[in-house]
Amino acid sequence: MDELDSLFVNGRVITPDGPLDGDVAVGVTDGTIAAIGTPASLPSADRVVDLDGQYLLPGVVDCHVHTRSPGDEHKEDWTTITRAAAAGGVTTLIAMPNTDPIVSTPDRLRRVYEIADRDALVDFQSYGVLTAENTAQVTPLAEAGAAGYKVFLGTTFGEIEPPNDGQLFDAMKEIAETGLRVGFHEENDDILSFYEAETKAAGRNRALDHARSRPVVAEAEAVQRTTLFSEHTGCPVHMFHLSSGTAAEIVARGKARGVNVSAETCPHYLWFDEDVYAEKGNAARVQPPIRSTAERDRLWEVGIDGDGVDCVATDHAPHTDEEKGLSDPFGNTWESISGFVGVETEVPAMATFVDEGRLSLGEWIRLHCVRPAKLWGLYPQKGSLQVGTDADFTVVDPAVEWTLDRRSLHSKSTATPFDGARFRGRATMTVVRGSVVYAEGEVLASPGDGERVPVGETVDASALE
Ligand code: DOR
Ligand code: ZN
Repeated sequence: MDELDSLFVNGRVITPDGPLDGDVAVGVTDGTIAAIGTPASLPSADRVVDLDGQYLLPGVVDCHVHTRSPGDEHKEDWTTITRAAAAGGVTTLIAMPNTDPIVSTPDRLRRVYEIADRDALVDFQSYGVLTAENTAQVTPLAEAGAAGYKVFLGTTFGEIEPPNDGQLFDAMKEIAETGLRVGFHEENDDILSFYEAETKAAGRNRALDHARSRPVVAEAEAVQRTTLFSEHTGCPVHMFHLSSGTAAEIVARGKARGVNVSAETCPHYLWFDEDVYAEKGNAARVQPPIRSTAERDRLWEVGIDGDGVDCVATDHAPHTDEEKGLSDPFGNTWESISGFVGVETEVPAMATFVDEGRLSLGEWIRLHCVRPAKLWGLYPQKGSLQVGTDADFTVVDPAVEWTLDRRSLHSKSTATPFDGARFRGRATMTVVRGSVVYAEGEVLASPGDGERVPVGETVDASALE
């Protein structure tokens, strides 16, 4: 074998089966992994990176972020979100289509790709949106390269009208032919609007009132309906940002009878329960909301420890402090907006769960690297540590204990309920296709360094390892 471009030594290499035994080095040439083995068995390299016993993970894939560009660049843009991703240890992002304009046609998708090609520091993909208006765009969006589709069943930022059940069911038959997956914002809109009106009429206006106006049954009903539609169309379905154990249980039951359904949850649903609203007010306002202790614990039990959740993503949803009303976080919740940033807190949160013994290292890798890549057709180029695949690494120091000060974040928005949280572990180095994009507290990549990842077929989520 020829000389390598770089060699990463003294790392603890983490795979879906856990850490590799012994002294394992990873060699990189031309942006791909060229060799994995004992240092003595590998050729020499131009550059040797000593990881000093830290974890070397496959690069983290975040399949749920709101980049806000085009259209809402005062909240975030492709440069700021990917700078934050690099600093947080995230090597690939999949962008949500509730931009302005929404990503409803191939031309608009190509526009997103152009912007990201120009502005992004890490690798990327994007979903297309499916609304009441554009069900004719299913195949054209697939042909234009989309990672998959998003349907907003519950109204949220962007106020995008979803297809009705008939349109949706019919569109899902067509999606089943594309090899792609459709993901849903899983909330029943009739239930939401009924309780929002009732809550407002009763003069209840705290952040907890907003949360309670979106009951678990709204999520569970939507998950049940889309699981059933998947079963009857063969269309692969993904549940974005599951917040409750009740909903995760429906997913697990669907998988058990062979339905191709997958689900994601977010660090905030695993970390917090609804007590967060008394502490953080509208800084923690999000849709779907953070749930009761019982639902959170059940999400761990049937979701993470059972089959109800496949992957973790952030729902990184930047808004300005002003839009969230953070000059008074306990002010009227109906004048606030839902969502907060996440790409710089997901690795620390997951590392902390590992440190607490809630999660094994192998499970972390499956949730955060392998399965999101498989579900959205990016595997094995992304999400794996195999010879011939992209040399994307997230290096984590598991021992460092630290407290988040949101002013240190790299996004335009720094609103997060994790402000002040105590973590154990953080990303110390991020590598995308062999290039170190973040190290020693500095973002080293430039806009334009990120590349679009080609999309292959999704997998059968009922048989996902
Ligand atoms: O809280 C949320 N904010 N939930 C969503 O589903 C959308 C997101 C946003 O785009 O701000
Ligand atoms: Zn979202």
